[in-house]
Amino acid sequence: MIAIKNEHELQVMRKACKITAAARALAGEMVRPGVSTRSIDRAVHDFIVSQGAKPSFLHYSGYPASVCISVNSTVIHGIPDHYVLKEGDIVSVDVGACYGGFHGDCAATYPCGAVSAEAQKLIDVTKESFFQGIRFATRGNRVSDISHAIQTYVESNGFSVVRDYVGHGVGRQLHEEPEVPNYGEPGHGPRLIPGMTIAVEPMVNMGTYEVRVLKDHWTTVTADGALSAHYENTVLITGGEPEILTVTEGL
Ligand code: MF3
Ligand code: CO
Repeated sequence: MIAIKNEHELQVMRKACKITAAARALAGEMVRPGVSTRSIDRAVHDFIVSQGAKPSFLHYSGYPASVCISVNSTVIHGIPDHYVLKEGDIVSVDVGACYGGFHGDCAATYPCGAVSAEAQKLIDVTKESFFQGIRFATRGNRVSDISHAIQTYVESNGFSVVRDYVGHGVGRQLHEEPEVPNYGEPGHGPRLIPGMTIAVEPMVNMGTYEVRVLKDHWTTVTADGALSAHYENTVLITGGEPEILTVTEGL
């Protein structure tokens, strides 16, 4: 069952998502050489709590932090620690916040100081693939129409999309139906209906799409050690254009 949110629920969810987006922006502003990933996690935690919300990821399935910070060849679920960011790193920040019983979920990859042209292209293509995907996030389309658009755009730019992790419905639960893969043929999966809220989140690798999970059971890295980037927003299906909920305007 895919939850359809009513207008009252959406008002609350918009607020949850604005807090989440502001937390992402705060983390992004902190990305610079000399800053530890743990200090970003602390700042984001304190910001979310100051807004009357809760960090969605903290203790989720035992996850030990409020943010996932995934540097360079780490794809997702990097655990903030004593690592100090250095010039040239690319830094994926993924954050969730729960307010009034609803979750927001969003991510972005930020350059730390000056990065290589290839790294910047990876960041840009990953973000643009999200926007290419949500062109199809409209009433009556099927979920995999989004997936196919993302894959086509990414691969036409010479990069690959991760298969082992997918986007998802989001609302009262951080992860709800449906799954939203970033690859596949169009015309499959559930039909999109106004009131559905989904997290569309392409994870894009510079080399192979294959990934592996480190012994901490969280940190997910590219199998070949090449760079990876991530971009995610929580999106509402409407009767017209999709509405990106994880925006900072109007918090
Ligand atoms: N945004 C991610 C997701 O949608 C992060 C979840 S990390 C976890 O799955 F720690 F909460 F598991
Ligand atoms: Co997500």
